[in-house]
Amino acid sequence: TKIALITGGYTGEAEVSLKSAAFVASKIDTQKYAIYPIHISLTDWSYVAADGQRFPVDKANFTVPLADEVIHFDLAFIMLHGSPGEDGRLQGYLDMLGIKYTSCDALTSALTMNKGYTKSILTGIPDLFMAESVLLFESHRAAATALVTEKLTLPYFVKPNAGGSSIGMTKVKSQDALQAAIDLAFDAENTGKQVLVEEFVFGREFSQGVYRNAAGDLVVLPATEVRTTREFFDFEAKYTPGLTEEITPAPLNEEQVTRAAKILKEIYVRLNCKGMVRIDFFLENDTDLFYFIEINTIPGQTATSFIPQQVRAFGLTETAFYGELIEVALQ
Ligand code: DAL
Ligand code: MG
Repeated sequence: TKIALITGGYTGEAEVSLKSAAFVASKIDTQKYAIYPIHISLTDWSYVAADGQRFPVDKANFTVPLADEVIHFDLAFIMLHGSPGEDGRLQGYLDMLGIKYTSCDALTSALTMNKGYTKSILTGIPDLFMAESVLLFESHRAAATALVTEKLTLPYFVKPNAGGSSIGMTKVKSQDALQAAIDLAFDAENTGKQVLVEEFVFGREFSQGVYRNAAGDLVVLPATEVRTTREFFDFEAKYTPGLTEEITPAPLNEEQVTRAAKILKEIYVRLNCKGMVRIDFFLENDTDLFYFIEINTIPGQTATSFIPQQVRAFGLTETAFYGELIEVALQ
């Protein structure tokens, strides 16, 4: 089985994508699967061989012409965070070529990349709460602070509406810091020119993976609790080993575990997800209510990422887990 491991991308998460892909490549069973890392940037699509040599991809049919053969892929394992691997563009392209892939489909990817639109779709799920928020478009930019302050109470989280890894994100604790935060979020690279401003939820933060296994069952992995001493779980905290305390499985009581699992499965089904996703949420301090933060359809697989920790806590090796994702996607 020939697998294109697609990585890189157009956003500030490209470096993270390369790390995720390298980690996945190091864990995939190479006796069973031949892995071809495909690096995508705005200017270049190439298969990057183990010795660093680059071979351009033929975009007309997603093949790699080599001197003595043309490589055709059986599957794309998408490990590209942000655009164009997490926002449906690559999925749409692969659909048109009839090439299978490991992630959610084009519609779900495009929808879930948009945090504000995703919140609209998830409205009404029992026991699922969402922070009050304002979705800002480019045309709102001049009047943005007024739109926010008339609806929301400080502190705010300001983020690119289609971003990831907390890039371009600010926790705003006073009104006079709001405009700069909004501008920063609008200007994050290739993240769609929309900004989501949300009220801060005072609570414990968790992140939890969900995937469909080879038997067709939805599996909820053990949750991870994130405890950071920084203002929030920002880019530094996410990717610097040791900066954040991460507890897997998270210390939750039985009722919380059961309630979270039920909500997470409902989210997966309602969004018609495929493969592995990871959902971030808070449990509010005073009320213990479940507050949805967002869903990641290409969750990070770096050495500090949560899914690998959760897979191990679940009693699987990463090799078995990635193998299962591949087999399900090939079905
Ligand atoms: N967007 C990053 C990679 C994550 O969700 O893990
Ligand atoms: Mg994210």
